[in-house]
Amino acid sequence: MLRIGVIGAGHWGPNLIRNFHEGASTEVACVADTAESRQTLIRERFPTVQVTGDALEIIDGDAVDAVVITTPTSTHYELAKRALECGKHVLVEKPICTRSDEAEELCELAERNQRVLVVGHVFLFNQGVRHVKDCIDAGRLGDLYYVSMVRTNLGPIRVDVNASWDLAAHDISIANYWFDAEPVEVSAAGGAWVNQGIDDAVFATLRYPSGALANLHVSWLSPRKARDITVVGARSMLTFDDMNLTEPIRIYDKHVDDVRTAAPYIDSFASFRSTVRDGDILIPKVSLGEPLRAECSHFVDCIENGTTPLADGRCGLAVVKALEAIDRSLAAGGRRETV
Ligand SMILES: NC(=O)c1ccc[n+]([C@@H]2O[C@H](COP(=O)([O-])OP(=O)(O)OC[C@H]3O[C@@H](n4cnc5c(N)ncnc54)[C@H](O)[C@@H]3O)[C@@H](O)[C@H]2O)c1
Repeated sequence: MLRIGVIGAGHWGPNLIRNFHEGASTEVACVADTAESRQTLIRERFPTVQVTGDALEIIDGDAVDAVVITTPTSTHYELAKRALECGKHVLVEKPICTRSDEAEELCELAERNQRVLVVGHVFLFNQGVRHVKDCIDAGRLGDLYYVSMVRTNLGPIRVDVNASWDLAAHDISIANYWFDAEPVEVSAAGGAWVNQGIDDAVFATLRYPSGALANLHVSWLSPRKARDITVVGARSMLTFDDMNLTEPIRIYDKHVDDVRTAAPYIDSFASFRSTVRDGDILIPKVSLGEPLRAECSHFVDCIENGTTPLADGRCGLAVVKALEAIDRSLAAGGRRETV
């Protein structure tokens, strides 16, 4: 059995504790949380698990083989660094940390110590996201023009990072995965209304090397929980609604036909129709499954079988670089920033 120590048992931590507790080849040996109220809850739910208020007891000790870090983002770097230095494999929640030089250091440390470093970019384990990736890689959409992504909710409101670091981290990881590239340039606008200096909503545009765009709208100050994505390609288009559990994806056989041969003067319904392809809409079957469970199994697979992590430290680093560029653009009133 692979012995797991989980650090941070707030809103998200219990989901990781549950998955590793139920895993066939893992056991949660220890949990650390500085808040006594959270320690009590974990003791009640998992009476056999050792619970402490001091993360270093887990990291420095020899009771675990791997450490899962699900504390606030501002604490990730110190905890992950110490765990890697102590020879532990690490699954750290997204974003990997708050600075790219520190993310680079974590990557190098993991490589040098030959430890597995996985970042909790859970959407890379989402079956819908994977299905879209398969469509893109199979050329079904043609060349990608742009993706538009909306991720909104009312809360939870963070105080250590802005909405971009909290929410756009997901969308950047998805866009990088789909485009198989990292953005080269961003521009962003945002607003901080609840806590001074911490943007509650961010609107960002990322440009990829191919010229394709990713437009992100993230907010924790919205009346509606939305997880909407539109992908527009030269051959067809699709929508992905992660809130729709049964039919999340719609693939539209729609595109603009060869515009070079379009009539120079369009004044009838028939001629207008001839310039666009407005075909069928397909709803593919997407198998359900808990993405976090797949992520946890993948982490174990990487440790036990040497599988290359899908969301490794460098993947986390690429997301942090884009987030830093978004922050620079926010501070400069929306100026284009090189990533
Ligand atoms: N992958 C996802 O979909 C997803 C979803 C939610 C949160 N997250 C990430 O998980 C992390 C935690 O988010 P959350 O919503 O659970 O936050 P949270 O504030 O609800 O919980 C964090 C917990 O960590 C504890 N803590 C803080 N510092 C600690 C330390 N040094 N040692 C031990 N415990 C400590 C706090 O007491 C708290 O209970 C964040 O990085 C967030 O971005 C990821």
